[in-house]
Amino acid sequence: MSDLAGRSTRLAVLVSGTGTNLTALLSAIGSDPDFGAEVVVVGSDRPEAGGLARAEEAGISTVVTALADHPDRVTWEAELTRRLAEHRPDAVVLAGFMRLLSGAFLGHWPDRVINTHPSLLPAFRGAHAVREALEYGVKLTGSTVHLVDEEVDHGPVIAQRAVEIRDDDTEERLHARIKEVEHELLPTCVKLLSQGRLVVDGRHVRIREASK
Ligand code: GAR
Repeated sequence: MSDLAGRSTRLAVLVSGTGTNLTALLSAIGSDPDFGAEVVVVGSDRPEAGGLARAEEAGISTVVTALADHPDRVTWEAELTRRLAEHRPDAVVLAGFMRLLSGAFLGHWPDRVINTHPSLLPAFRGAHAVREALEYGVKLTGSTVHLVDEEVDHGPVIAQRAVEIRDDDTEERLHARIKEVEHELLPTCVKLLSQGRLVVDGRHVRIREASK
């Protein structure tokens, strides 16, 4: 099923890291005939990102656009946009992508850029969410999947799930447990987006019933 006249939703996925969320998304799509989406391109700002190798193994086109190869962020982002657009994606999934995207990028896919973040937003935005939750001493953190706006880890929340922090947690152990949650929550939310079931009203996202 898809909201796009019966065809599957074309996804671009952006990664900067190891790409375990990309792998989880690919396996969710591969094991669910009703998912309604396909990954048509994986992009990264880092040529060494593990997610690129995962995409290549899966036979998916990859695009690398490094900020250091461009005179400024505007040129870098325009190039990234152009190279993704060649694959005609309907939506963009940030699966561990660690760069801020401007309104110029987001305007190509309004309410169709989705991000996973390893905390219960609005707590612990930014690149070190797991470490900062541990340092702060909170007892609960978790996973948030949200629509992307121009601010860091800030757009309307689609879904959240809590993860308890244990006394003997390290950043690595806690992040691994959060990723287990992300690996379910991100594909669930991407499926809802792909099926056109997210209704956005300002900061509020409602989930529409599945059509029969
Ligand atoms: C994930 O935990 C994701 O939430 C986080 O990067 C990790 C990527 O893991 N993203 C952010 O912190 C964005 N602010 P992966 O490369 O194994 O999918």
